[in-house]
Amino acid sequence: MSNEVKYSTALENVDWQQMKSTLAADCFDNGRTPRQLRESFENSYATAIAYADERIIGTARVLSDGVCNAYIVDVWTLTTYRRRGIASTMIKMLFAKLEGEHVYLFTDDAIEFYEQLGFKPQPIGLGKVVGQWLQGESSHGVR
Ligand SMILES: CC(C)(COP(=O)(O)OP(=O)(O)OC[C@H]1O[C@@H](n2cnc3c(N)ncnc32)[C@H](O)[C@@H]1OP(=O)(O)O)[C@@H](O)C(=O)NCCC(=O)NCCS
Repeated sequence: MSNEVKYSTALENVDWQQMKSTLAADCFDNGRTPRQLRESFENSYATAIAYADERIIGTARVLSDGVCNAYIVDVWTLTTYRRRGIASTMIKMLFAKLEGEHVYLFTDDAIEFYEQLGFKPQPIGLGKVVGQWLQGESSHGVR
């Protein structure tokens, strides 16, 4: 396991197939195809990807209106690289582009991780999938 971790906000050279297979092997695959992963990252307001030995070992991205409201998703560090500050670094890279904005997110069990970054529980969030998960036009890049 490499000790050197590099971070990038660029998406031009991302191997989306590798991201998909690494996420799947680490049990953090939510069903997106490599193409859907690319579209979701490219359509984000800001992204951060961590690499070790040229391989993807962490992701984070944020949706934002660029003024007041932002929503963080896809925060993940490869299991063997956890507790080394990698996800915190990626979130701080996103924060650098979110000055003045309210940032929201959902989490099942990473509460302590987000609390150490200053997040506080908020009133109940509600969610709904419109139609069938990953089966809309917006999931295929058709607009
Ligand atoms: C949550 C997750 C992204 C954290 O990634 P990470 O790179 O290990 O996080 P960091 O090393 O930056 O953690 C910084 C601090 O957050 C807290 N923290 C992180 N993971 C924690 C855990 N599992 N339990 C308790 N505290 C935790 C600790 O205070 C930690 O500091 P310490 O290691 O000095 O104690 C990672 O565990 C992960 O990918 N989990 C699966 C995916 C997931 O749940 N993502 C969030 C979806 S909303």
